[in-house]
Amino acid sequence: MTNIKPIIAVTMSTGLQGSGVVKELSKSDRFEIRAITRNPNSDKALALGKLPNVSLFKGDLLDSKSLFNCFENVYGIFGNTTPTKGIRPLVRNYEIEQGRNLINVVKEIQNLGNLKHFIFSSICKAKDPLLNEPSPGHFSSKWDIENYLTLNNLKPITTVIRPASYFENFYGDLPGLRISETSFPGVVSPNKKWQTIAVEDVGKWSNAIFNNPKRFINTSLNLAGEELTGKEMANILQKIRGTKSKKVNYVMAPRFLMKTFVHDIGIMADWIERAGYGANIASLKKIAEEENIVMTKLENWLIDKELKIKDRN
Ligand SMILES: NC(=O)c1ccc[n+]([C@@H]2O[C@H](COP(=O)([O-])OP(=O)(O)OC[C@H]3O[C@@H](n4cnc5c(N)ncnc54)[C@H](OP(=O)(O)O)[C@@H]3O)[C@@H](O)[C@H]2O)c1
Repeated sequence: MTNIKPIIAVTMSTGLQGSGVVKELSKSDRFEIRAITRNPNSDKALALGKLPNVSLFKGDLLDSKSLFNCFENVYGIFGNTTPTKGIRPLVRNYEIEQGRNLINVVKEIQNLGNLKHFIFSSICKAKDPLLNEPSPGHFSSKWDIENYLTLNNLKPITTVIRPASYFENFYGDLPGLRISETSFPGVVSPNKKWQTIAVEDVGKWSNAIFNNPKRFINTSLNLAGEELTGKEMANILQKIRGTKSKKVNYVMAPRFLMKTFVHDIGIMADWIERAGYGANIASLKKIAEEENIVMTKLENWLIDKELKIKDRN
């Protein structure tokens, strides 16, 4: 007897979200997974290709024909886009072009009949972003792609997920924005609560969503796992390190510097303080329990990270 599994294509599979989605779907053993990358020979791609049920597919969000080939005969698609163009972090036109190509090809594939479920990964949207202008440009790019999706009448097969800031940003590459012996860095004022999520949880949510289409199709979900102030987060790290370690302070990157060097991140920090990400964490916890999703606590994520760093040193 043949056991043909439905196929799910994952865009940006070597990225933070994509690799988490591929890993979770691979574990579930219910789908064949096409991990899409522009470079199937990269170390990250080769590692994904070794997972059960995963095949590597070469595709570029800027090349519709390659996307079409990757999406042919699939049951589901995880779609993501990026504003990062080479060393330039937030290039709006770059992301919009990917989003339009993605939606156009998804529409074409839907018309062929096999595609049943599309997840588009957007970005958290407070209840009323338009009343809270100016919103960050790289957020509005995602929301513009969502609008394009709606215009193309794809909502009846779509779940829009909208993650908040990743925990991973606390170990980011930008100077001063990396956890150190004495600092827990952030972009938001020390006493303002902001919502965050472990990027691996995007994979867990996506797996649950693909496994329960009835519940999630034609819906959108703001995703976050925690809502803490910078001071609270620094205290959690201090507790993990113990009283004998150096004092850890929350250090907010000066807003005027952010606005000078990465303007849109400064606008984003203003927006998080004013509008907030808008995830309903109580409701997410309830859904997570029903769908067997174990949401990652910041404390556990930090414990794991600190152990890995100790092992490396
Ligand atoms: N950082 C946050 O806190 C946060 C929170 C919520 C949402 N977001 C949003 O998440 C998105 C980024 O997702 P991510 O963090 O998973 O990305 P990421 O880790 O930066 O990964 C980007 C991946 O995209 C692939 N890629 C780049 N250009 C491509 C193209 N033209 N066509 C196809 N693939 C391309 C690259 O893979 P290959 O080289 O292998 O092709 C790369 O691995 C952004 O839109 C961001 O705004 C970020």
